[in-house]
Amino acid sequence: MNEKIKYSMCWEDPKLVTNGLNIKTSDNVLSIASGGENIFAILLKEPNELIALDNNTYQIYLVKLKAIAIKYLEYDEFYCFLGFEKCENRISIFKKLVPYLDKQEIKFWNKNIDLIKKGIINCGKLENYLYYFRKCVLRFVLSKKNIKFYLDLNDIKKQKEFFQKKWNSFTWKILFKIFFSKTLMKLLGRDKKYFVHNKIKNISKHYYLRSKQGITKIPTKTNYFMHMILTGSIPKCFKDHPYLDLKNYKKLKKLVHKIKYFKGTVNDFLTSNSINISKYNLSDIFEKDSQKNYENTLLLISKKSDKGMRICYWNNMVKRSKYSKFIKLKRLNLFSEELFKKDRIFFYSDFFVEEKP
Ligand SMILES: C[S@@+](CC[C@H](N)C(=O)[O-])C[C@H]1O[C@@H](n2cnc3c(N)ncnc32)[C@H](O)[C@@H]1O
Repeated sequence: MNEKIKYSMCWEDPKLVTNGLNIKTSDNVLSIASGGENIFAILLKEPNELIALDNNTYQIYLVKLKAIAIKYLEYDEFYCFLGFEKCENRISIFKKLVPYLDKQEIKFWNKNIDLIKKGIINCGKLENYLYYFRKCVLRFVLSKKNIKFYLDLNDIKKQKEFFQKKWNSFTWKILFKIFFSKTLMKLLGRDKKYFVHNKIKNISKHYYLRSKQGITKIPTKTNYFMHMILTGSIPKCFKDHPYLDLKNYKKLKKLVHKIKYFKGTVNDFLTSNSINISKYNLSDIFEKDSQKNYENTLLLISKKSDKGMRICYWNNMVKRSKYSKFIKLKRLNLFSEELFKKDRIFFYSDFFVEEKP
């Protein structure tokens, strides 16, 4: 199993990032790279500068490969190369992209050529876990026909009805409990470091309730995350998806060269660069940080920025919401809550937008 790439797509709603940060063409944006989708979503707003930062080199290789594939491939070829549908010639497509990669990237992908063969959109540790979720849990609960029926629903009431009648069975509850237990998640799904500061005792119950909320309260037809979880793919031309929406794909072709990549932490970046960042997308990086590190990063960000600078970040299993009064940031409470209500990903327990007054 690939242990290097943890997330082969970004599991955070781009609408929360772009609306929360209100990105303008004058902004210098720093965003966690992760699987790249939110980098592309931000890029579509055409900021002045965009830095894709990650402390995992392989996440950066992945985002760069996606960016190059967007630039040099036609949409249909890109769609099957990434792994959204069956494709027999991924290796020959990859060979077309090799001239645009650097030596280290070529070495990595050649060494891990199986990831290319299978399609990179499902090559992460988390996506692998979701593959086993479909194989070991979902298929004993819902038939393919029922999954399709659910994904096509266009009415939130019908989603709730479907969940109660067809989905929320004893088998679902039991298999869910086993599969999303702390032990299995640590072993197969998420990095162990994400559990160090966790205070939630019953993780599977926590995720069961969050999933119930996601399945019954978030419109499924426009939720590409739900498609990915339930089928391992997203339909072609999915409206508003950062690059699967054809108009976004065409626009990105002309923009991807603008992304700058940085390997390291936010603190590394801020202590080695003088560029004035006005918007930060911080994913849920504070999840594995101590309270002290969380505060240190916020302090450095607030010291190094001007009035009006904004940051956004999620809480998942770890509460990172309170900090010292010496950190000069103001949380936009109502605005954050309103955005969080629309989050198409149900894993998270909070979302914050903060601004330098
Ligand atoms: C924070 S993870 C979270 C992904 C997703 N929200 C989830 O929980 O499933 C997203 C990316 O952040 C990177 N990352 C984590 N902590 C970081 C840090 N302190 N500085 C830079 N990148 C970091 C990881 O390598 C990963 O690619």
